[in-house]
Amino acid sequence: MRVVILGSGRGSNAKAILEAQRDGNLGTAHVVHLFSDQSDAPILAMGSSFGVPAAFIDASPFRTKLDGEGENRFIEAIEACEPGLVVLAGFMRVLKKGFLTAFAGRIINLHPSLLPSFPGLDGIGQALRRGVRITGCTVHHVNEEVDGGPIIDQLPVRIEEGDSLETLSEKIHRAEHELLPAVIARMSAAWGIGHVGS
Ligand code: GAR
Repeated sequence: MRVVILGSGRGSNAKAILEAQRDGNLGTAHVVHLFSDQSDAPILAMGSSFGVPAAFIDASPFRTKLDGEGENRFIEAIEACEPGLVVLAGFMRVLKKGFLTAFAGRIINLHPSLLPSFPGLDGIGQALRRGVRITGCTVHHVNEEVDGGPIIDQLPVRIEEGDSLETLSEKIHRAEHELLPAVIARMSAAWGIGHVGS
C-alpha cells in the first residue's frame, strides 16, 4: 500500500511512521512521498533523512484551507504517487471537496484529542483548560466535517495534577507515535485483501 504523508510542521509523527517502516512494523505499507505546505517545515528534512522524497507545494491563495489553485497543485502531485493512503500528520489546512473526491476513502487524519471532544485547533490546550482527566489522540477518516469523520482508533492519555501544556503535549505525542503507525499497518493488511489480483 503506497502511502503519501502531508504535514506542516515538526514531523515527529512522520518520523514514527518512517521508523516503523524501517523496522518492519508498517505491514505492507510503504511511504512513497512526503509533502508540506510550508517550505521550511522540519517534516521535509525528516523525509529526506529516511531517503523518502519530500517536497514543498505552494498551497496559496488561501491560508487555512486547501482550495483553488493550491488544491489543484496538491492533487496533481499526490495523484502522480498513486497512493493507497494519504496520511495527514499535522497538516494544518482544511481539505475541500476537490481533494476529498480525488482521494475518496483514502485519507486519514491524526488529531491530538479523543474526538469528538476538542476538535479544531489546539486540541491539547483545549483539554487542559477544560480540566478533563483523560484526553488522548484519534485517527479518523477525513470527510467534509472538520475532525468529524468516522473514527478508526484512539489512545487515551491521563492528565495528571501539575501537567502543563509541555508535559501533556509530550505524552500525547508519545501516544500518537504508537497509534498512527499501528493504524497504517492494520489498514495495509485490510487493503491487501481488498486489492488481491488488482
Ligand atoms: C500532532 O500532534 C497532530 O495530532 C496535530 O499536529 C501535530 C503534528 O505533530 N494535528 C492537528 O492538530 C490537526 N488538527 P508532528 O508534526 O510532530 O507530527
